[in-house]
Order: sequence, then C-alpha cells, then structure tokens
Amino acid sequence: MDKNQINGLLRPKSVAVIGASTTPGKIGYSVVDNLIKGGYAGTIYPINPNATELLGLKVYPTITDVPGKIDSAIVTVPAKLLPAVTEECGKKGVKGLIVITSGFSEVGNKALEDEMVTIAKSYNMRILGPNIVGSLSNSDKFNGSFAPFLPFAGKSSLISQSGALLIALDAATYTRKVGFDKLISIGNMSDVDFADLVEWLDDDQDTTCISLYIEGLKKGRAFIEAAQKSKKPIIALKSGVSAHGAAAAASHTGSLAGAAKVYGSAFRQAGVIQAADLNDLFNRTQALSLQAPMKGENLLIVTNGGGVGVLATDAAERYGLPLQFAPQDVQDELKKHMPEFGSAKNPVDLTGMAGNEWYYDSVKFAISHKWTDGLIVLYCETAMTNPMEIAHSIKKAVADSKVVETPITVSFVGGEKSDAAMAYLVENGIPAFGAPDLAVNAMAALHEFYVLHAKKADFTFKSNSKARELSVEIIAKARAEGRDSLTEIEAKEVFSAYGLLVTNTSLAKSEDEAVALAKKVGFPVVMKIVSPEILHKSDAGGVKVNIKDEAAVRDAYKTILSNAKTYKAEANIHGIAIQEMAPWGTECILGSVNDPSFGPTVMFGLGGIFVEVLKDVTFRVAPVSEDQAEEMLGEIKGAPILKGVRGESPRDRKALAETIVKYSTMIMDLQDEIKETDANPVLVYEEGKGLKVVDARIILKAK
Ligand code: COA
Repeated sequence: MDKNQINGLLRPKSVAVIGASTTPGKIGYSVVDNLIKGGYAGTIYPINPNATELLGLKVYPTITDVPGKIDSAIVTVPAKLLPAVTEECGKKGVKGLIVITSGFSEVGNKALEDEMVTIAKSYNMRILGPNIVGSLSNSDKFNGSFAPFLPFAGKSSLISQSGALLIALDAATYTRKVGFDKLISIGNMSDVDFADLVEWLDDDQDTTCISLYIEGLKKGRAFIEAAQKSKKPIIALKSGVSAHGAAAAASHTGSLAGAAKVYGSAFRQAGVIQAADLNDLFNRTQALSLQAPMKGENLLIVTNGGGVGVLATDAAERYGLPLQFAPQDVQDELKKHMPEFGSAKNPVDLTGMAGNEWYYDSVKFAISHKWTDGLIVLYCETAMTNPMEIAHSIKKAVADSKVVETPITVSFVGGEKSDAAMAYLVENGIPAFGAPDLAVNAMAALHEFYVLHAKKADFTFKSNSKARELSVEIIAKARAEGRDSLTEIEAKEVFSAYGLLVTNTSLAKSEDEAVALAKKVGFPVVMKIVSPEILHKSDAGGVKVNIKDEAAVRDAYKTILSNAKTYKAEANIHGIAIQEMAPWGTECILGSVNDPSFGPTVMFGLGGIFVEVLKDVTFRVAPVSEDQAEEMLGEIKGAPILKGVRGESPRDRKALAETIVKYSTMIMDLQDEIKETDANPVLVYEEGKGLKVVDARIILKAK
C-alpha cells in the first residue's frame, strides 16, 4: 500500500471535481456544494468545459488548466469519459481518483473499468470506486461525496461496500449518537480495496476503531492479512451469508462451506469482531471506539432495578461472560452505598432508592477495584430520580477515578429524559444503550476484541516441497488422462506424502490379484471399486467390508464389478482396491475447499450423523497452526465426545490436531491444483493410539 498516495486521495489538501455541474440536484453540483458546506479548508477546483463559475468558485475547462497542485480528483462525469479523464489526471500529477460514476463492472462493463485502472496505474494513481458515494472525513472537514453532511463526529471509521447504506448510516449517526471520523464508500473495488483501507486506517491517528460493511471480499486473504496486523479493533458486518458456493460442490466439504462458516472463521483468525446486524454494528462500534478492551472475565453489574439486573445477568451468560460473585472486600464496601435490603453480590442492586450519591460512590469504587475487568451500570427511570443527574454522577465517578483501562457500558431504561441522559454520556465517551442486554453485548465486544487480538493466527507458511513434487506428478498423470479427480488410491498417495496416516490400500486388476493382495494385507479386508467416474462408491454398491477369506474376496470382486457396471455402464474401471480393515474408532471428517476469496480452507468435524444431519463442523483458512487446530477440536458441539464421555476414554486429540496441520500444508502447497478434498472417515483411537484415514477424495481445479 502506498500510504502517501492514499493520504492524497482521502485526505487531500486540494481537490478537483470533474463534472462539477451548474445544475442544482445533479451529483456534480452536490459534491461541490457539500465540500463547501462541510467546511473543507483545502482548495476546491471545479472542472467543467461548459461553465465558468460555480457557487462562487472559478471553474476550469479541464484539470490540466488548473494552475496549482491537485491531490485528489472526484469524478462525476459519465462512465465513457473515464479513460480520457484518468489520462488527464495522470498528466496533472493527481494522487488518486474518487470515482462516483456508475456503469462499470457492476453492470458487466469490466473492460472499461480495467482500462481506467490500467491508465491510473501507469501514473501511480490510486482509484477509489467506481460506483461509490464518495469519501468523508470529519477531521479534515472533507465531504467528498454526495451524502449531504459529514457524520456525527467520533472516533470510528467506516468502510462500506454499499453506497446507499453509507448515506443512510451517515444520517443515523446523529440519531444513534455513534460518532465516526471517516466514512468511505468502496464500491466496485477496482483498485483500492478493504485490505488497503484497513492498513491505512490502522495508521490513522483520528481512528480508534474500524467498522466494515462487507458484501463480498474480492481478495479475502489480503484482507485477513491486513486485519491480522492491525492494532485497532475491527468490526465487520457481512451480508449475503445465506448462498455462497455451496451449490454444485463435488465433495462433502464443498457442500458445507457456506459463507457464514468460512467468513466467520476467517474473521476470527484475523481478530475481526463480527456484528450480527446493522443495530449490532452501531452498538458494538460505539463501545469499541470509546472504551478500552475488557482484559479479563470479571464483569460487575451495578443497578437500581432487580429486573434489568436479571436481564443483564442472562445476557452476560449468553454472550460468554457469566457473572461471578464479587470478592468479599468489594461486597463489604458496596454495602455502604445501599439500603439494608440491597444486594452487594453480583449484580449489585442499589435498589430503587439509589440516588446520585450512591451511584457516584459505587461506580467510582467498582471501576477502581482491581477485581473488576468490566463494569456495566444500569438505571431504571424512577419518580424520585433525575436521569440526567444520575448520568452526571456516573460520568463524574469515572472521571474522578482516573481509570481508563477498565471499560464501562451503561443502560438507561426509560423515556425521553433517559434518552437525553444517555446522549450526554455518549458525548462524554461512555457508551449507553436503551436496553440492558445491549450494554452487555457492547461489553462482550470489548472482551472479544481482547481475546481475538491475543490469539490472532499466524499466516506464515512452510511448504513440504518433497511431498509437493510427488503430488504434482500424481495429479499431472490424472490430468493427462483427462480426469478432474484422483482415484482413492492416488488421493491416498498424496495424503501419505504429506504424512497423513492412511489405511494400507492397493489396486487389484484381477480376481487372483485381489486374493493375493488380501492375503498380503491380512484378513479381514475391505474392497472398493476404483473408478474416476464413480465418486460415491457406496451408492454404486461398490464397497464391501469385513471380507474374511479367499472365497469371500472372489465373491465380492464379482459383485462389486457387476454393481458398478449396473450403476454406470460407461464408467472406466481401474480395478478394485484391497484395503486393510481399520479397527473401528470415533468417526471424524477432515476436508478442504479452495474458497474463491480466502483460498485454501480446512474443515473439521465429527463424522456420520454429526456431519450429515447436524452439520457440526468448523473451518480455518490455511495454513493452520497446532494451536488453531486444537481450538478447532474444542469448538464443535461434539467436542466432549473427543474428550471422552460416559466412561469412554479420551480420543487422541494430539494426533488429530497434528493431522489437521499436515492437511493444511497439503492444501496450501497444492492450491493451484486442488479444488476440494475429503478425508472421510478419519477413525480416531484412544489417546496415544493415533488415527487412520480410511477414505480419501481429491477433486482437481479445472485448468
Ligand atoms: N470534464 C468535466 N466536466 C464535464 C466533461 C468533462 N470532460 N464533460 C461533461 N462535463 C460536465 C457536463 O457538462 C455536466 O455539467 P452541466 O450539468 O453543468 O452541463 C457535468 O459534467 C455532468 O455530466 P452529465 O453528462 O450531465 O452527467 P450526469 O450528471 O447526468 O451524470 C453521473 C453523471 C456520474 C452522476 C452518472 O453518470 C452516474 O454515474 N450516476 C450514478 C452515480 C451513483 O449513484 N453512484 C453511487 C452508487 S452507490
């Protein structure tokens, strides 16, 4: 990322508006008007060959006629003019273009978009957009957009892939009292993308929290790498999680890798906090931009109402911050600021008699105590108290405590007076919400930030070049035969090159060979059809297990061949695989997809009904470290089964975690070749006894 060029683009000292219309109501007119009304202190150069003056400013026929230097050019002329306009900007030495104009790749006109970017690159210019609202920065009083005003001032910055949503959110920042410094519309992301802006905002001194509205990442891996390096909290609302890539998947894993799962895992790995919806994006952003992270799990709740206290307690459990009783010394002190019938346990109930002083004393004490990792203050509007005075007491208590490292969130439940009191709190840096569960959710975001930040994934990768070489050869042979998948035997050769423990499997091309191989492997054996055209072997009647003697081998050989021919007469049959029959263990599944945005992604879950019906699986963008692999084992719903339930001994989780790591190396190494893989089932034995990959599937990338 060229920081200097992006600074020029988004925090310009001088700006040209190309297509500065003299007709009020047109976008080119609004942009100039907004720049002036926003109070922009830099120089504005309206450009329009058909005008001489606009809103008191001299208009230039072309950008090359402007005498001074220009950092950024906002473009509001029709799409077909963009190549010529970009060329002129390049000649003028502009640092970047904010292209508001629509009519590019979003309507199938990718060639025009590419042409514009190519010209821009030849002059080392950056392009934001096209198809955007523009870019706004409160600290520069720069409204380079057709959104009518700068947002309610604050410390978060938002990047939005939807322009209309950005305008709507801009207005909502005032009613919600959630403050932003920058609002950046990113549109088609022809050049500047989320990764560039996350990196840039991470260095921006006016931004404390980065909020994202994402529809789809073009370069997911670049994004998570930028997010992973960021020091600031990043919160993302991802839309369109319901239909993604699941259609037409050839592997089990492919059909399970929906956007919600893959994006969710990638975000967690990169330390990105998620928002459930727009409200959540606002609420969590408010807390993340105003308060410090919550560094432990000791949450203290102070309230004047039992009901809101219980609601907050329930929410705390729901958001993974279950309440503990406060230590005795905390309880003893708090007891002094409540009537006899109050409760100093947690939640601390000051009762409906609580007035300004009790709130002041208990908040000041609670936030200063070393036990408290996070403080939530609740207030129900009562006839005897004044919400604004309570708000003043809370704000003064926090200020007097001089504590900034312990986060606080507040909820006032009541009418207009409570709303006004909360607005006052927010303006003074204390997040406040109209319902107790929202205050808890906001605190949970502060805790999530701390936890995710501490265990961000490391995406550095070490190839297994020897295994890669061997695998590429096997794959080349399959491709030479015109195949788009490997046979089970070939897939197992690739797996074992990467150190995965697969069942001993050999190919028999005749009945006699089958008998000889079965004797060598040792009875009982498993026999499976080997045909590139038959991927679902059991459905074709192509699998026989527990074959105990020679006669049974001969029998199975004939039956499998005849079943396969009935299933698919034209199938090209390589032979029949003779396989050791692995002792039964806990059935797991491993797999991978090559996600269009994030690249190689590993899946893990328990097999059988857990994957078929419950879809109890988890994903990680590769490469996966051993720590991450262990986390995967712990986060599926069936995790207790691996730990050993009902007297069963624990499974060999170490072997499983090591296998996931090797699997991730394999799919990273072969990402140009492989589309999807499955290892299903993987039979996992008792601790110390390892595992066996019983079946293997590799689907190749189309070339
Ligand atoms: N350089 C500078 N100005 C030029 C020019 C040039 N080479 N050629 C024409 N102009 C002037 C025009 O004379 C006009 O000014 P005028 O109204 O004073 O005559 C002005 O530029 C605008 O051109 P016009 O042809 O009138 O376009 P328009 O205003 O109808 O539409 C866009 C232009 C960019 C707004 C339109 O093409 C568009 O893309 N709209 C959608 C934008 C959008 O919604 N984006 C966000 C999506 S979230």
